Amino acid sequence: MNPNKALWEKGDFTRIAEGMRESGAALVAQLGVTKGLDVLDLGCGDGTTAIPEAKLGANVLGVDIASNLVEAGTMRAAAEGLTNCIFREGDATDLNELKDGSFDLVVSIFGAMFAPKPFDVAKEMVRVTRPGGRIVMGNWIPGDPTLVAQILKISSAYTPPPPEGFISPMLWGIEDHVTERFANAGVAKENISFLKDSFTFNAPCSPAELVSTFKNFYGPTMNAFDAAEKNGKSLELQQELEALFIAQNQSTIHDTTIIHATFLRVTVMR
Ligand SMILES: C[S@@+](CC[C@H](N)C(=O)[O-])C[C@H]1O[C@@H](n2cnc3c(N)ncnc32)[C@H](O)[C@@H]1O
Repeated sequence: MNPNKALWEKGDFTRIAEGMRESGAALVAQLGVTKGLDVLDLGCGDGTTAIPEAKLGANVLGVDIASNLVEAGTMRAAAEGLTNCIFREGDATDLNELKDGSFDLVVSIFGAMFAPKPFDVAKEMVRVTRPGGRIVMGNWIPGDPTLVAQILKISSAYTPPPPEGFISPMLWGIEDHVTERFANAGVAKENISFLKDSFTFNAPCSPAELVSTFKNFYGPTMNAFDAAEKNGKSLELQQELEALFIAQNQSTIHDTTIIHATFLRVTVMR
C-alpha cells in the first residue's frame, strides 16, 4: 500500500475539514473564479475549496489520493446539486490521466504539499495548467508559531525519524524551495509570488475535544499517537497538544474553539 495514500485514508479528514469550510470559501472568493473556468483542485479532500469553486460556476475536477475523501466530496457535491464538480482519485505526483494545458486554474490548498516527490508535483501542476493560467497553493510554514505547524512539530517529536530520503512536506512553506521546484518545471522566478494568509479552524466544542478529533480522525496525528502509545508517551502528547490548542483558542464562548493558522499562499502564473 502506498504510505501516502494510507496516511490520508486513515481516520476521516472530513471531521477536520468541517471546521475549515468558512476559510475555504473565503479564500476561493479571492481567486477570481468565474463561470466556465476550468479548475483542477488537487489534494481536494472532501471539497472544502472545490465546492465553493463550483458554486461560482467553474467546471471543477477535484483529485485526491484518498478514496474515502473522493467519495465524501462526491456526496457533498450531489447534496448541493452541483453537476459541475467531479471528484476523482489520483496522485499529484503523476496526473497521467490529465492532458497538458487542461486547466485555467489549479488550486491546491494544503493538498499537493503532502505528496512525495515535490519536483514531480510542481512539474505536473505546471503541465496541466494552460499557458496564461494560474496555480494557487496553500502551504503550511515550518516553524510558524500557529496551529498546524505546531501540531506537526509536536507530533514529530513522538514519531520515529522518517525513512532516508524523505522530504518534509513543510518545505513547501519555504519560498526558496517553492521557487526552485517551479523553476525546475520551467516557470520564471518573476511569475511566482507569495503572501502570508490565514485559515481559521472553527469547532463547536472545547479545545481539548478538538484535540480528540485530531487524535481520532487526522491521519498524521493518529500516527503520532500510535507511535507515542508504543513508548508509553501518549498522555504526554495529549497534554502537549491540549496546551497548544488552549493557548491558541481565540473564542470567548464556552465549548467553542476558534483558532487561526498562518500559511504561505503561492501564486504561479503559467
Ligand atoms: C490536509 S488535507 C487538505 C484537503 C483539502 N484541500 C482541504 O483544504 O480540506 C490534505 C489532502 O491531500 C491529499 N493528498 C495527500 N497526498 C496526495 C497525493 N499524492 N495526491 C493527491 N492528493 C493527495 C490527502 O488525501 C488530503 O485529502
